[in-house]
Formats: sequence, C-alpha cells, structure tokens
Amino acid sequence: MEFEGKRVLVTGAASGIGRATAIRFAAEGAKVTIGDRNAVGLEETAAMMASAPVVQPFDAVDPASCRQLVAAAATDGLDVLCNIAGILKWGPSETFAVEDFDLVLKINTTAVFAVSQAALPYLVRSKGVIVNTASAAGLSGIAYNAAYSASKHAVVGLTKSLAVEYAAKGVRVNAICPGHVETPMTAEAPPIEGDMDWALVMRNAPKLLNGSCAPEDIADLFAFLASGKARKITGATFTIDGGQLAG
Ligand SMILES: NC(=O)c1ccc[n+]([C@@H]2O[C@H](COP(=O)([O-])OP(=O)(O)OC[C@H]3O[C@@H](n4cnc5c(N)ncnc54)[C@H](O)[C@@H]3O)[C@@H](O)[C@H]2O)c1
Repeated sequence: MEFEGKRVLVTGAASGIGRATAIRFAAEGAKVTIGDRNAVGLEETAAMMASAPVVQPFDAVDPASCRQLVAAAATDGLDVLCNIAGILKWGPSETFAVEDFDLVLKINTTAVFAVSQAALPYLVRSKGVIVNTASAAGLSGIAYNAAYSASKHAVVGLTKSLAVEYAAKGVRVNAICPGHVETPMTAEAPPIEGDMDWALVMRNAPKLLNGSCAPEDIADLFAFLASGKARKITGATFTIDGGQLAG
C-alpha cells in the first residue's frame, strides 16, 4: 500500500474534502491523525476509516491549539501534513464586516502557517510533504469573495515561499486549487444581498459536463502529491476545477 506506516495529519477532517482525504490515506495504510473544531464530525469520520485514527479536536484560530494538534500527530514523527480546514464567507465588499475578513484570514491562512511551522521540524527529519488547500479563488478573483480569495491567494504565496525555503532540506510543499466541490461548504447557495450580480460569479462556473468535483476527486490529488510519484514536484499549484479557470 502506498502509505503503509506513513504518519499523516489531516486538518478539516470532520467534513467534506478533509474527511475524504483522511479516509483515503487510511485506506492506503497510513497512520492518520484527524483534526477539526467539530468533534462530532471527527468521530463520524473516524468510524468511516479503515484504521482508527488519532482524533484531536482543535481550533484553527488559536495558534496554541494548532501546535497541540501537531504535537498529538507527531508523537512518533510526521511524514505528511494536509492543511484542509477552512471557511467561506460571501458578501458584497461594502458591507462585509472587517472582523469577518480577519476571521477568514486567521482560519484559511494564518492557521496554515501555524500548523506548518509546528510540523516543519518533524517533516525535515522525515523529508516529508505539506499539501495545502488553496482554491480556484486563490488564482483568480471572485466577486463577493474578497476575503476568501485574499486568504487563498495568500495560501499560494505561503506554499511557494515554504517550498523554496525547505527544498534543500528535502521537504516538498504544494497547493491544490479546487473549483466547485460538493461539500457542506457549498451546499447552500450564497445569500444574494443588495445589488449582487450573480453573472459575475457564474463566469467562473465549471465548463466540463458534470464539472463539479466530489470530495474524493480532491482526495486523489492529495494522495498523489503526498506520494513518491510527485517526488519532483514542489512549489506548485494544482487546479482541479472542471475547467473553471480555463476561460
Ligand atoms: N467546497 C469547495 O467548493 C471548495 C473549493 C475550493 C477550496 N475549498 C477548500 O477546501 C477546504 C475544505 O473545504 P470543504 O469544502 O471540505 O468544506 P467543509 O465545510 O465541508 O469542511 C471544512 C472543515 O473545516 C473545519 N473548520 C472550519 N473552521 C475551523 C476552525 N476554526 N478550526 C478547525 N477546523 C475548522 C470545519 O469544521 C469543517 O469540518 C477549505 O479550505 C476550503 O476553503 C473548498
């Protein structure tokens, strides 16, 4: 099995892409730690996995909690970190609360740095891998998503910077940029407020027939980037979006 005995930490594992990714690594023989603020969802995920994970609730807004998560995952070392926890908040920019802007950046960007920072000493020892979750919104602006898009562009910058800084130490760092994925995050249509022009958003709709992704499609890419098949890939962004950004 591809990840037999590998020690893997997956954040955001109570739901959606994180859940599918945790299930995928466990199916490939990994020793997985799952982290999320949703303890009930974590237990549901654990019950779906081929082998029992270490279950560690954490809150991404709290750097100390991020460090505790890594400590729980790395008692025996760490080979792979998948940063997947995140939130999405829509809204017209003129009325979007600055406090919400801060929160989106804290969870989607600062926490990725905090978890990665804590994990890097272990990953240097194992010549390990970080796979971050950016977004199509990390490569292109999306109307009414200024905070989310800024947070995901920042994940791309963070990914490339860490990739350069740690390449000579044998640690690879890449980012996945999913388009629309069918998860609880996207289950509800965003609220239409004020004079929001939905056509501005639909410019970025998937182009492929049935172009929305399933969480398992994204989990496949996490598994590929964490595997030896990707040994020459670092500092890269991988779009998986049914052609959303193609034109
Ligand atoms: N669904 C999409 O279309 C899509 C597209 C591009 C990128 N993404 C990104 O993929 C990642 C996973 O999203 P998803 O679609 O699976 O959504 P989801 O809502 O199903 O899962 C996100 C998980 O993050 C957790 N989380 C949120 N805030 C947290 C916090 N403060 N501390 C700890 N955990 C926290 C949630 O509890 C949840 O389990 C996110 O980073 C998201 O931005 C999603």
